[in-house]
Amino acid sequence: MNEILEKHILSEGVKDITVSSPHIARKRKAGQFIILRINEYGERIPLTIVDSDPVEGTIRLIFQEVGKTTYALGDLEVGDEILDIVGPLGKPTHVENFGKVVCIGGGIGVAPVYPIAVAMKKAGNEVISIIGARDKDLLIMEDEMSSVSDELIVTTDDGSYGIHGFVTDALKELLDRGRDIALCVAIGPVVMMRAVSNLTREYDLKTVVSLNSVMVDGTGMCGGCRVTVGDDTRFVCVDGPEFDGHLVNYEELILRQGAYIKQEKESLDLYHKCRLDKLAEKGKINV
Ligand SMILES: Cc1cc2nc3c(=O)[nH]c(=O)nc-3n(C[C@H](O)[C@H](O)[C@H](O)COP(=O)(O)OP(=O)(O)OC[C@H]3O[C@@H](n4cnc5c(N)ncnc54)[C@H](O)[C@@H]3O)c2cc1C
Ligand code: FES
Repeated sequence: MNEILEKHILSEGVKDITVSSPHIARKRKAGQFIILRINEYGERIPLTIVDSDPVEGTIRLIFQEVGKTTYALGDLEVGDEILDIVGPLGKPTHVENFGKVVCIGGGIGVAPVYPIAVAMKKAGNEVISIIGARDKDLLIMEDEMSSVSDELIVTTDDGSYGIHGFVTDALKELLDRGRDIALCVAIGPVVMMRAVSNLTREYDLKTVVSLNSVMVDGTGMCGGCRVTVGDDTRFVCVDGPEFDGHLVNYEELILRQGAYIKQEKESLDLYHKCRLDKLAEKGKINV
């Protein structure tokens, strides 16, 4: 069950795994995610289903190692099993032929925007993609994004590859050229999604963002993923993860994302210590 069948490293700390999960592979749609638990002591974390193969019964997950669970997941090897995977969760992306759609991915956000770009292209849209990273080495999925886009624009913060600047610089240039764009989809760090939404508001361009709030149960019961969208309180796990970017209260989201930073750091430090102890036990390192 849930065996890891393939594992690749896309960039420093970013891993790409293919996992056996036939039921989810058959049902999942663009924009949906899973919640997994590595072992019986593990916390539950949400990850987007980047791709699936219903015939082989596999799903593809791409994740950045940022804390204890993502590091522990990254330490698993081909042949290892993940204890449980729940999904597909969340509402699928609303896909139709809008005309021209801009898909924006920043950092690890390129992974969750990829299935949306695929679905938008399949629905007959002209897809312009903008992907960005801090530097060239951190850029992921350029070839795959290129293969599903009519035009791909790459930006790096330090100018080591593509356009020197942020994804918003490239987007502004597109919008100033008067390109007749019907929809913008943006996924990445919250500050990036806020910056994109502030920009597109000026151009009256409908914008969808996918929120990465902290989640626990993923079923609308715990309230952990609560966000404010316009005048409404919404749960990212069941009402989202996609929302109107112009209505999201990003300041509240940033505050809520940082609520457990102290505990997350302690947990990661302990994990690294145990990992070093284990390697020392096996005689692989000297401490
Ligand atoms: C719907 C959804 C889809 C996601 N898809 C992806 C994906 O495809 N690839 C990917 O790399 N990441 C994705 N994330 C974020 C991923 O879930 C977190 O990085 C992960 O939970 C961190 O767990 P950790 O134990 O490694 O780190 P922690 O020690 O728990 O936290 C490290 C950092 O991650 C943030 N974080 C912690 N828990 C969560 C959580 N449950 N959800 C979101 N952020 C959290 C914290 O604010 C902190 O800054 C997604 C999040 C959501 C809500
Ligand atoms: S994760 Fe518990 S309500 Fe959404």
